[in-house]
Amino acid sequence: MPAKYVNLKRCFIKTYGCQMNEHDSQKMNLLLHRLGYETVDAPEKADLILFNTCTIREKAYHKAISEIGRSAIFKKCRPQTLIGVCGCVAQQDGIKLAERYPHIDMVFGPDQINKLPNLIRKIRSSSPRPSPIKGEGDIGSPPTLEGEGGGEGGFERLAVALDLINTPDEYNFLNDVPDKVESGCAFVTVTKGCNCSCTYCIVPSVRGKEVSRAADDIIDEVRKLVRAGLKEVTLLGQNVTSYNPPTPPLEKGGKRGLTGLIKRLADETDILRIRFTSPNPRDVDEELIREFAENPKLCPHIHLPVQSGCNEVLKKMRRGYTREGYLEIVKLLREVRSGISITSDFIAGFPGETETQFEETIDLLKQVQFDSIFAFKYSQRPGTKAAIEFDDSVPVDVKEARLERVLSTQRKITCAKNEALVGQIRELLVTGYDRKNTGRLMGRLADNRIVNFAGNINLLGSIVRIRVRRALANSLEGEIIHDNNP
Ligand code: SAH
Ligand code: F3S
Repeated sequence: MPAKYVNLKRCFIKTYGCQMNEHDSQKMNLLLHRLGYETVDAPEKADLILFNTCTIREKAYHKAISEIGRSAIFKKCRPQTLIGVCGCVAQQDGIKLAERYPHIDMVFGPDQINKLPNLIRKIRSSSPRPSPIKGEGDIGSPPTLEGEGGGEGGFERLAVALDLINTPDEYNFLNDVPDKVESGCAFVTVTKGCNCSCTYCIVPSVRGKEVSRAADDIIDEVRKLVRAGLKEVTLLGQNVTSYNPPTPPLEKGGKRGLTGLIKRLADETDILRIRFTSPNPRDVDEELIREFAENPKLCPHIHLPVQSGCNEVLKKMRRGYTREGYLEIVKLLREVRSGISITSDFIAGFPGETETQFEETIDLLKQVQFDSIFAFKYSQRPGTKAAIEFDDSVPVDVKEARLERVLSTQRKITCAKNEALVGQIRELLVTGYDRKNTGRLMGRLADNRIVNFAGNINLLGSIVRIRVRRALANSLEGEIIHDNNP
């Protein structure tokens, strides 16, 4: 039997939050597979459980914390099980997590996932120490860097890696790719961290300063992924539009930024579809808008978080653009690429937001006619400028009522837009089974809409033609069109 099948270990990663976390979890799964682990679908079956956490809003934080607390049961049933916490809650709370939950073996931040194999090795090779312990092996105070140790808190075994990495030469973007991309789509990281200072946002403090990855490395990763079946790439970054590596992606014309990278990917790889997420409207320039006109591989969709339709609120949020500037970008995008789908994020009940200011957001929603949106109640996050300087003054019931108005206003718009697609024939990338487990397949149109349809699983990862049959609130239903049955 080949060595890798001996001693097969099982891992389970629970992922919360955004696409960055989803992508980090995919990379961790890959690292673990290379170590001989297989992924299982439930924590009780696993020898290694990882919680890849999110702290963007208080609700996400509490959800992660309560599941981490409950996970002690898995260790009671199978004492050899390792439990780790990573992602943004790990970065925010650090060693405090292990003090509060002694069953945790590892705490590591989003910039440290490449250390995962080392952390596991260290834990597995260290014998459990009685707890609490002082003396031999004790490192005196809780560890703050990669290491294992006893310490004041009396940890039995603990591996910690929490450094945020702020320079391109030190940051390791994990170039390894899976042997097969069954879904035909994948994320590729182009930047990590964020240099913006949106007053409500905890991301810069848990993901660190922005670091851009070298264009050649990105192109190399996309080429490898294409060989493994990739059709559609989503370039990923907290603020992907400020991508700016030390060496310009395009020497000619000196294009340093995202547009240069998109051009090179289209020209130098066999990728069929390119997307990116998420841009900040302040960095969307004419060059990028023109790329939507000139580059057919760039999908006709942009997720352009606006947050509010009111200039005073945007200023207090430190978003760096105005309502008028945002509307201008929307107008230009629609001029250069007809049918482009525009989606967005909103925050309801930002500190001090008045009824009149909120009405400007509703007005913007109606004016822009987004294809779909995400909306959230403002949530005060520790250490942010908004938490320090502004009272969380909008009462919860008002926040909830405003959120509901944003969502219900948009619901009608989304439904009408989806209805307008019924009868149309579109190209669809088949990405997997539908989310309701009905046995049907699911895929994405170039404009990012989800379509569910009946089809053979052999179609997975391929681009097919589909006729839209029915519009639902958040998705479409379609039927596949075979070439001999147009
Ligand atoms: N630029 C990032 C933003 C991540 S946060 C990106 O890649 O999309 C995603 C969304 O969460 C934000 O656009 C914002 O609408 C919302 N959000 C962030 N912080 C928030 C807070 N403190 N309260 C409520 N919503 C918040
Ligand atoms: Fe957060 Fe603003 Fe950056 S929303 S991730 S600080 S662009």
